[in-house]
Amino acid sequence: MAERMDLEMLWQSLETRAALTPEQAGFVFSPAFDPHRERLFGMADEVRRRVLGDEVFLRGIVEFSNVCRCQCAYCGISALNAGLPRYRLTREEIVDTIGGAVAMGYRSFVLQSGEDPGYTADDLCGIIGAVKERHDVALTLSIGEWPREAYAAFKAAGADRYLLRIETADPALYARFHPHSTWENRHRCLQDLKELGYQVGSGILVGLPGQDGASLGRDLEYLRALRPEMVGIGPFIPHPATPLAGAPGGTLAACLTFLALLRLYLPDAFLPATTAMGSIDPQGRQKALRAGANVVMPNVSPMTHREEYQLYPGKICLTDDAGACRTCVERMIVGLGRTVNTGQGHIRRRVY
Ligand code: 5AD
Ligand code: FES
Repeated sequence: MAERMDLEMLWQSLETRAALTPEQAGFVFSPAFDPHRERLFGMADEVRRRVLGDEVFLRGIVEFSNVCRCQCAYCGISALNAGLPRYRLTREEIVDTIGGAVAMGYRSFVLQSGEDPGYTADDLCGIIGAVKERHDVALTLSIGEWPREAYAAFKAAGADRYLLRIETADPALYARFHPHSTWENRHRCLQDLKELGYQVGSGILVGLPGQDGASLGRDLEYLRALRPEMVGIGPFIPHPATPLAGAPGGTLAACLTFLALLRLYLPDAFLPATTAMGSIDPQGRQKALRAGANVVMPNVSPMTHREEYQLYPGKICLTDDAGACRTCVERMIVGLGRTVNTGQGHIRRRVY
């Protein structure tokens, strides 16, 4: 395939944001593309600089419960992991955690948890309301699949944004890893969130068993059609306490390639250099910031339960508190010649 790939045509497709053919997608995710990868990253870095400038946005993540009803085959906190101690922060603990991080200069937060049946939609509305009442911050939820009415209630309670990765745009592949739910419901959730006026974040896992370049090409088209405000992607990292323990993980090269393509196809989207990328390569987040990314999401959760919120092994920052990460991330960003945005980081859509 490599020798027959028309490279001129490929670069032209990328420049003009034409959909990649399955062959082109297969090629960019194959080792045959290695000699050309830096050029792609450079293109994405240039689009990021031109469209969004040099600012990098910070979002502090609060992992407020690791209780989960789901059985995602890759995930370390799935209900299948019977040996894991479970925790749940109280409303006051969540509000105080955010208060502590506000004092360190964070103004934008992601409240993330498993799909914890211990909370009703009303409980969560109470938490959202308490956070928004006490702190002048932007609030993103990352709490999985809910009925449309619940999403509407969270929004009315003050939530600004919602993160829900589609994980893969391929319904058959999705079914292999998610015995408890359907791809169609996840897709429905994303449509509801958009219709309700959330700033929506989605994303995928790169390197899932059975996923090939053509499949990633379809993921890219799915995300392009969804036109989310944010897209977070990361490598699949096999967790020892899951059914996929023995599977090979995703590579940073594949992640950076997908990220760079996202930047070309969604020029104004907010794209994080994710913790998972930093966990498989000590320079993972720096490389992502130079291949299209413009967001970093440090963990600001209390130190007491960090060990128990490992979706994947080898997660960085388990022993670094919100202040340490704030300093570390600032140094990283400045070291790349970029600046830290200290505001709430709302997304301005551009025409393109
Ligand atoms: N490796 C990498 N990412 C994972 N996630 C869950 N489990 C893993 C894993 N083993 C990601 C999913 C989910 C996000 C919160 O964490 O993509 O959407
Ligand atoms: Fe957490 Fe660097 S971002 S220690």
